[in-house]
Parts: sequence; C-alpha cells; structure tokens
Amino acid sequence: NDIARLADRIRDAETVVAFTGAGMSTASGIPDFRSDSGLWNRFDPEDFYYQRFRADPAAFWSDRLALHETMFGDDIEPNEAHDALAELADDGQLDAIITQNTDGLHACGGRGDSIAAELLELHGNAHRVVCEECGRRTDAAPVRRRIESGELPPRCGDCGGLFKPDVVLFGERLDEDTLYRARRYAQRADVFLAIGSSLTVEPAASLPRTADRGGATTAVINFDETPFSPTAAFDVRGDVTDVLPDLRASVVE
Ligand code: OAD
Ligand code: ZN
Repeated sequence: NDIARLADRIRDAETVVAFTGAGMSTASGIPDFRSDSGLWNRFDPEDFYYQRFRADPAAFWSDRLALHETMFGDDIEPNEAHDALAELADDGQLDAIITQNTDGLHACGGRGDSIAAELLELHGNAHRVVCEECGRRTDAAPVRRRIESGELPPRCGDCGGLFKPDVVLFGERLDEDTLYRARRYAQRADVFLAIGSSLTVEPAASLPRTADRGGATTAVINFDETPFSPTAAFDVRGDVTDVLPDLRASVVE
C-alpha cells in the first residue's frame, strides 16, 4: 500500500523534509483557517493585518488576547501527529520540519523542548513577542500579564518600542533567512511530505513544487485535495493523527 511504499522511500532517502500546516494541530484543539470550523469563519481576517496593528496597537493587542485563548491556551498540547514527526526525527529519518504554524507545537513534540530535526517556523511563533524598534524577541507570557493589568499597548523595556506578536501578519514579509533555508531544504529533499495544509498561501505554497522540480519524491497528507495533489507522487487522504503514526511505524518496522 501507499504508506508502506512511502516508508520505503523515507528509509532510502538522504534528506527527508516535512512541511506542515494548520491541519497538523486541529487534533490539539486549534482551529485551522479554511475549514468550515476554521478561523476565517470566526474572526475577521482584517484583524490580522500589519497595517491594523500599526494603526491601533492597543486595539490589536486586546483582540489578540481573546484569540490567544482559542489558539494557544496553556491546556493545548502536541498530538499524535506531532509526536510521530518527533519520533521520526529521533530515528534519524527526518531532517527538517518547515511549518506555517505559529503554535510552537513542533518544538515540544511530547518530549521536552527540542526535536532532533531542524525546525523552520516560516510564520513565526505566537509564544514570543518582538520589539518593532530594536528587534529583541522575548517570551509572550509576561507581556500578556502586563496587558491584562492595563499596559496597552505593551512596550519593550529596553528601548520603549512597540511589542508585536512574533508572527507574520498579513502585509508583512516572511523572514528572509528562514525562507531561504526552507527553499534550500525543499531543493535538497529526497522525500518531501506536505502535511495538513491547503497549500494555498504563498510563498510557502510553492515549496512542494520546488521540491518536485528538485527531484524529490513528494507526498500530500491531508483530508482533502490540494492544488499540488495531482502532481504529488503520493496523495494520501486521511487524518494526520492516523497517517503519521502509521507511517512512522512502517519506517521503523
Ligand atoms: P488551512 O486551514 O488553509 O488548511 C488546513 C488543511 O488541513 C485543510 O485542507 C484541512 O482539510 C486539513 N486538515 C485539518 N485537520 C486535519 C487533520 N486532522 N488531518 C488531515 N488534514 C486536516 O491551513 P494552512 O494551509 O496551514 O498564515 O494555512 C496556511 C496559512 O494561511 C496559515 O499559516 C496562515 C493563513 O493565512 C498566516 O497566519 C501568515
Ligand atoms: Zn526594543
């Protein structure tokens, strides 16, 4: 079957890359963007624009606290799909995880703070804030507590600049170095797995095509079809929390 054949390719590969989207974390209770229950049916995408942040940072931050509970509350934990990728990395069978997610769940795939693969968070990490002036990055939790006790908008203790969630808002560019490294991994990959993403948002969405052109065996693992699915060598339709543990078991068996 497909899983066994894909597992063979992974075992034979030099470089294996996983590219993940919001479907990775729905089983952890985090809504995705474009499903019926997705964020775009609950929140106004207008609220996610960099221009809105700059125009009214206080209003932006107070909306953000409500979103934070939905997306990144303390009770939210990695699921079996995150664990399976972390295990593949531990097995030496996964070299890089490129993610569009900002939930930080890959970095604690059930086993402490680090994983054995390189992690590239293309859209940033909502558990951090970044100073707009000096670029300092720091843990978001104490900043949220300051907001709750009335500091709006929150500012950098070093330079007084505005703090922004350390995520890529609409109208902002991706971090150049992170994107460069992601593209290099896509070019080098022997196996490239696109997991739980609708593969619709650029520039991240073109990474599977880069991998395909670079000669990788590509696979889409997702509930439904994506624009890249017809091109992919493997089009696996299913729940990532079933497929990834099966795949990992098949790689190591
Ligand atoms: P989407 O919501 O566009 O796509 C998630 C995909 O995962 C959909 O095709 C779902 O059907 C599928 N899915 C959900 N749960 C699944 C599960 N348990 N098993 C298998 N498939 C499942 O999310 P992304 O592709 O990640 O950008 O969206 C990309 C970007 O769009 C996000 O990073 C965000 C948004 O604009 C920024 O915030 C900058
Ligand atoms: Zn600063």
